[in-house]
Amino acid sequence: TIRAIIFDLDGVLTDTAWYHYRAWKALADELAVPFTEQDNEQLKGVDRLNSLRWIAHKGGLVLSAAEEERLMAQKNAHYLELIQHMSPADLYPGVQPLFAAIKAKGWKIGLASASKNAAFVLDRLGIAADFDYVADANQVKNSKPDPEVFLLAAAGLGVVPAHCIGVEDAVAGIEAICAAGMRPVGIGEPALLAQASLVVPQIAALSIAQLQALA
Ligand code: G6P
Ligand code: MG
Repeated sequence: TIRAIIFDLDGVLTDTAWYHYRAWKALADELAVPFTEQDNEQLKGVDRLNSLRWIAHKGGLVLSAAEEERLMAQKNAHYLELIQHMSPADLYPGVQPLFAAIKAKGWKIGLASASKNAAFVLDRLGIAADFDYVADANQVKNSKPDPEVFLLAAAGLGVVPAHCIGVEDAVAGIEAICAAGMRPVGIGEPALLAQASLVVPQIAALSIAQLQALA
């Protein structure tokens, strides 16, 4: 039985994954660390500090705690600038009908995001009120692939993990869903998200019938 669908935010409900990439890319350029879109796949779903450390490590850089703070603040300021003009028009097509179908089934809707900006983005997209529970990076210690944020979302929804489906575009996110004991649905490349039970190219391609069939 399915009782809840728990969504990732960035790259699943809206295209913020691209803005995160742009902001990390600008920072990597400044640090003279080579950074490609392929590298960025490793950072999807990974929190701010661990993302910075991944880039620093790639460049063989050792950063002090103070430098880490400064660079994270710089990246976030750039990211916030990039998402400043987001509006409900930036919600991916298919999200609203999918949410309506989920509600019609009586299933709950949760969010499990590694971003500290999740509430701001939900607000901008005009979907904050659709969620029965929102779990984000402000409430958890361990970043995906750790299952903590998905487990927190399930607990907040009052649904045991075995009755939840998680929806993710990130390799680390699919791992987190599996580790939480939920059924994983991937958005993106099947070859990249091989651990997922079902992979669709974008959320508009995900139907309630496909979710039901995972039961
Ligand atoms: C999400 C994105 C990552 C991003 C992370 C932290 O997981 O997929 O690309 O780096 O959140 O976001 P934040 O908004 O807290 O810097
Ligand atoms: Mg994501």
